[in-house]
Amino acid sequence: MRTHYCGDINETLIDQTVTFCGWVHRRRDHGGVIFLDVRDREGLVQVVFDPDTAEAFNTADSVRSEYVLQITGRVRARPEGTTNANMKTGLIEVLGKEIVVLNKAQTPPFPLDGYSDVGEDIRLKYRYMDMRRPEMQEKLRFRSKVTSGVRNYLDANGFLDIETPILTRATPEGARDYLVPSRTHEGSFFALPQSPQLFKQLLMVSGFDRYYQIAKCFRDEDLRADRQPEFTQIDIEASFIDEDTIMGLTQDMIKGIFQKELGVDLGSFPRMPFSEAMSKYGSDKPDMRIPMEIVDVEEFLQEIDFKVFAAPAKDPKCRVAALKVPGGAELSRKQIDDYTKFVSIYGAKGLAWIKVNEIEKGVEGLQSPIIKFIGDENTMKIMAKLEAKNGDIVFFGADKTKVVCDALGALRVKLGEDLNMYTSEWAALWVVDFPMFEENDDGSITALHHPFTAPSCTPEELEANPLAALSRAYDMVLNGCELGGGSIRIHDQSMQQAVFRCLGISEEEQHEKFGFLLDALKFGCPPHGGLAFGLDRLIMLMTGATSIREVIAFPKTQSAACVMTKAPGEVSNAQLRDLHIKLREKPKAAE
Ligand code: AMO
Ligand code: AMP
Repeated sequence: MRTHYCGDINETLIDQTVTFCGWVHRRRDHGGVIFLDVRDREGLVQVVFDPDTAEAFNTADSVRSEYVLQITGRVRARPEGTTNANMKTGLIEVLGKEIVVLNKAQTPPFPLDGYSDVGEDIRLKYRYMDMRRPEMQEKLRFRSKVTSGVRNYLDANGFLDIETPILTRATPEGARDYLVPSRTHEGSFFALPQSPQLFKQLLMVSGFDRYYQIAKCFRDEDLRADRQPEFTQIDIEASFIDEDTIMGLTQDMIKGIFQKELGVDLGSFPRMPFSEAMSKYGSDKPDMRIPMEIVDVEEFLQEIDFKVFAAPAKDPKCRVAALKVPGGAELSRKQIDDYTKFVSIYGAKGLAWIKVNEIEKGVEGLQSPIIKFIGDENTMKIMAKLEAKNGDIVFFGADKTKVVCDALGALRVKLGEDLNMYTSEWAALWVVDFPMFEENDDGSITALHHPFTAPSCTPEELEANPLAALSRAYDMVLNGCELGGGSIRIHDQSMQQAVFRCLGISEEEQHEKFGFLLDALKFGCPPHGGLAFGLDRLIMLMTGATSIREVIAFPKTQSAACVMTKAPGEVSNAQLRDLHIKLREKPKAAE
């Protein structure tokens, strides 16, 4: 139907006749001449119709935005003064000779020929229209280039692309499962995979040695800008390797993609222990573009009368820490109040502060509602430890360790952004030496990564003090975003059972849920490990998108629904009967 894409018609084709197809992006009537900008996935071309070719002119006059056309015409240079150097096709135009309306279009739900502030719900309801916009086309094409780069790299390094089941059993990664009722097994359910974790480990037992898959994963969890219920991993596993090998291989892959697609050198990836990340940055995914560190100040506050600080300063499960913000003394009361509200999201009960106006004057040169509680001497010792300078503000957090880390960690990132403190465009690192487990509020413990991660100690040491054990896990972090994570796995059955015992999983439950894995570990499982990258997050970061929804063709909304197809939807009683399911009656609405 065509000889060229619209966006590929350029000055090399001057005087040639071309045929192309596309959508009417814009139509202008210029004193007897009609201009159409016609768009396809490669770009826009300007077409001119003059009244000499009456039939084509009349048709061009009748078309509206988003009509689908086939046009034949002659390429010519644009008249001087009308060229557009910013456009691929900006030096030429096509003199239209023939035009066929392949399809009409109703007025689009939102204009596509310029920026318009359209609500996300409308964009998602008409996603197929939204994706006609050049920005969306650009992002999804970019995504395709990256996945092809990933495949090339992994293929070249001997990884085999193997698919794993979508209908499976629970694959614990810490989220709720999406369940699928079985028709043939009354009362039983499949779970959609939270990741291919166990299958890729079994592929190692089978001897495939190096595996990868661009895999769909499903997690029923609270959604945020960087989380979707259905997302894609670049999932990787290899045998007979150690941390250095797998981290090196995957780091080279990510570096190569950044270099090729963005011309960016991500530099070296420093390794930071989890404990340092939490202590200095309050986060296991520190944004290293921001030159601020959180500093402990308990030692100055244990003996004071101010309970808000003294009690947590003495409690080993708590933390009192400070964040010094260069230039922050400029912040107004209103801004400080807003930041106080911001940290309350993370459970902080307040946000004490000290402004440093003239440090050479001692406490007289400071401004703060809390110096009277802390005392002059302690205050100056804190200022000295922080090396506070004129113009700084120091924020304080005092609470359970988790609350202080979360609150000051998030505040650090927010201030870094608000005050534009970035010292580089990109900052990548590996976070390593994670604890094997974390303690829940009720005293139970859960695996920080997943229960198949190898601890760095013996099974005996692990069971003697599970919360002290570190694991052989690693996360790749880029600009404060967890891009990927993985670990060296357990390949020994007794170690796997020790981990299950630590997690309070009974022998019976171990065999019921993970019997196949425990069996496989007995039949010659090689040492192995791997990791998975969030493909959506990678593309989000590389394209500068603010949400992974912007780089997924058909994403779900914040409430995990699809407004276009109206999924999830109701099903007929007959279907429910087939699945042996009876819905509970909805509670009657209160009168
Ligand atoms: P993990 O749970 O850390 O590890 O997931 C790996 C990466 O997947 C991305 N990711 C998500 N992206 C979008 N939406 C979500 N809801 C979501 N959840 C996770 C993140 C994350 O770093 N089986 C292990 C990997 C392994 O050990 O090899 C796993 O799934 O970028
Ligand atoms: P108050 O005595 O409650 O008015 O608190 C005095 C100052 O301490 C205020 O600036 C509060 O924001 C701050 N503050 C109160 N609780 C905490 C806390 N847990 N961590 C940090 N600052 C706090």
